[in-house]
Amino acid sequence: MNRKYLAGIAAASILTLSLTACGGSRGGGDDAAAEGGSNEGAKIGVAMPTQQSERWIADGENVKSQLEELGYEVDLQYANDDIPTQVSQIENMINGGVKALVVASIDGTTLTSVLDQAESQDIPVIAYDRLINGSDTVDYYTTFDNKEVGVQQATSLLTGLGILDAEGKETGEKGPFDVELFAGSPDDNNATFFWDGAIETLQPYLDSGVLRVPSGQTDFEQAAILRWLPDTAQDRMEDLLTVGGGERLEGVLSPYDGLSIGIISALTSGGYSTDDLPVVTGQDAEVGSVKSIIAGEQYSTIFKDVRNLGKQAVTMVDALMKGEEPEVNDTETYDNGEKIVPSYLLESEIVTVDNYETALVETGYYTEDDLK
Ligand code: BGC
Repeated sequence: MNRKYLAGIAAASILTLSLTACGGSRGGGDDAAAEGGSNEGAKIGVAMPTQQSERWIADGENVKSQLEELGYEVDLQYANDDIPTQVSQIENMINGGVKALVVASIDGTTLTSVLDQAESQDIPVIAYDRLINGSDTVDYYTTFDNKEVGVQQATSLLTGLGILDAEGKETGEKGPFDVELFAGSPDDNNATFFWDGAIETLQPYLDSGVLRVPSGQTDFEQAAILRWLPDTAQDRMEDLLTVGGGERLEGVLSPYDGLSIGIISALTSGGYSTDDLPVVTGQDAEVGSVKSIIAGEQYSTIFKDVRNLGKQAVTMVDALMKGEEPEVNDTETYDNGEKIVPSYLLESEIVTVDNYETALVETGYYTEDDLK
């Protein structure tokens, strides 16, 4: 937490103790404290990366509607995956008088100077899903257990190939299976967490030869897809099909549903049919990919219930606006180069054709009709 804000919270507790008779509670900025007022009902800035992916649209809507239910005013902006746009949106939010910022960054390293402006006005910053790096102004972080997401992606690849059974036990299947590996955007801190979790899980099978990577491209830098663009993944998959020596692929580690769609297009244009597509993983349980799973094309996705993520971010904002300290459950994992950012991590779940109904429909995340 930035020092000024921490001092603010300490001061708030004292103020709250000494001013209970007035019913005053300090909620954030110095001006509110000076007025003896509260930031309840204040304007909150919510900066989201893109509307090109359903998950971020849902994230933005969830955070906005849940904040509004608590009486806050919300300035929600999407930056079309353009870094200068996101920086100027955040600047405008600060100039427009927001009392807190919730930011899902495009590039986690590009917000340092705009966040300095936030700090100078004592505006707390919550990193949403993606860590903001290189800034000591990030107060809190809420996300999923990103390394575990990578473990789940790799585990579902191994299950889809029959190397592990449904309980995660080895079946004794020795392959060898030819697979290719994709990673997310190198400027998104999450991408390395997903990759590290996945590679740690796959490494023993790569070492023993049960898994082979025909292209030999096993480094993060070789596998990464800048800005998570489906077309870039499609192009890379097309290239991989030509360098791999003609072997039929049996699996593709893909870290995001959008990439999986590009990968599957490349595979089908490259001669694979629905019946013999490799096991392709994913993430986010986006509608198009869940339909693809039901149709037997994509094998798995990772369901991250963004309703819960939104709720967590909103709970953090609300606590801060009331001058309270938000609850966290991890104070070790997310070092942004300047500090270890106190975090609240949520759990994710592997989804395949076998459990999409219980995971996605019965929980009300989608209706049956959405998936037709
Ligand atoms: C998110 C993933 C998402 C990816 C691409 C990551 O930061 O954690 O859920 O698939 O961005 O949008």
